[in-house]
Amino acid sequence: MTEAQGLRLDSRARRLRKSEPIRRMFMETRLHADMLVSPVFVVDGRDKMEEIDGMPEVHRFSMDRLPPHLEKLVAAGVRGVLLFGVPGSKDERGTGAYDADGIIPRTLRSVRSTFPELVMMADVCLCEYTSHGHCGVLEGDTVDNDGTLPLLARAAVEYARAGADVVAPSAMMDGQVRAIRSGLQEAGLDDTVLMGYSAKHASAFYKPFRSAAGSAPAFGDRRSYQMQPGNRREAMREIQQDINEGADVVMVKPALAYLDVISEARRKVGVPLAAYNVSGEYAMVKAAALNGWLDEKSAVFEVLTGIRRAGADIIITYFAEQAALWLKEGW
Ligand code: PBG
Repeated sequence: MTEAQGLRLDSRARRLRKSEPIRRMFMETRLHADMLVSPVFVVDGRDKMEEIDGMPEVHRFSMDRLPPHLEKLVAAGVRGVLLFGVPGSKDERGTGAYDADGIIPRTLRSVRSTFPELVMMADVCLCEYTSHGHCGVLEGDTVDNDGTLPLLARAAVEYARAGADVVAPSAMMDGQVRAIRSGLQEAGLDDTVLMGYSAKHASAFYKPFRSAAGSAPAFGDRRSYQMQPGNRREAMREIQQDINEGADVVMVKPALAYLDVISEARRKVGVPLAAYNVSGEYAMVKAAALNGWLDEKSAVFEVLTGIRRAGADIIITYFAEQAALWLKEGW
């Protein structure tokens, strides 16, 4: 019998738990601020810093108020931001998403060169820009998959041109990665990283995000394009498909109810894996912490460590700034 299979008579697990220095030395899973990405909501207009329902301490900033916020993230040590645009007006076809002068391209042009140390990621989807709140254009009451693809590709090209290091399609349209990859190639943007929201599930945990982005669907729901929660094998197919279509990074989203999906993806694929610790997951911990029901610092440590232990290389989280500060202190 090998050591791994049976306990030795002299085995005492507590030896490796005896003191803080020993526990630190033998910690199997470590967090680092380099792996943290903070979502950032940019709202149209001037001089705005708005609160978000369900997300205490997270704000939407207008472009002119953004630099101080990004400076704080950099000072904390956060490595990346994932930008979401909240446009002043929306229309049926989500025009603002792929307008060269839309909120995201304008934001990127204004902050890109000032923050060379930040990896700038841009979410690519129509839902924040459509009057009906769906992630693609409509044909009757259904979301038109193939009619949406060129629009997503245009959006990604505009964001990349404006300086995005990473474009991240989250619309869950079939073929979106291929459409974006070829759009980028045609535009000569071969260096742009493509991060697919590959296994994105239709989740109750997106609710606070939808109030942040004003993107709740006006009718129906997203279950005809986002995955159902129980399908892990399908998640593997989605992930493999995104890699085949040209994704450099794949994602599992949400994170906490999907740790097994993260873990299996980690074992199955060689590309970097992102996990999105989504708005509702933030809300749960934050609400409990504000009520004194949980200790926020240790709860966040445990949540992020769990996502990391499951196999995520990078974690997109609304706790990024706070977590990076705690990491500096030695958490
Ligand atoms: C869609 C998008 C969503 C999120 C990221 N991109 C919402 C949705 O699909 O309804 C959710 C993120 C979160 O809840 O934090 N473009």
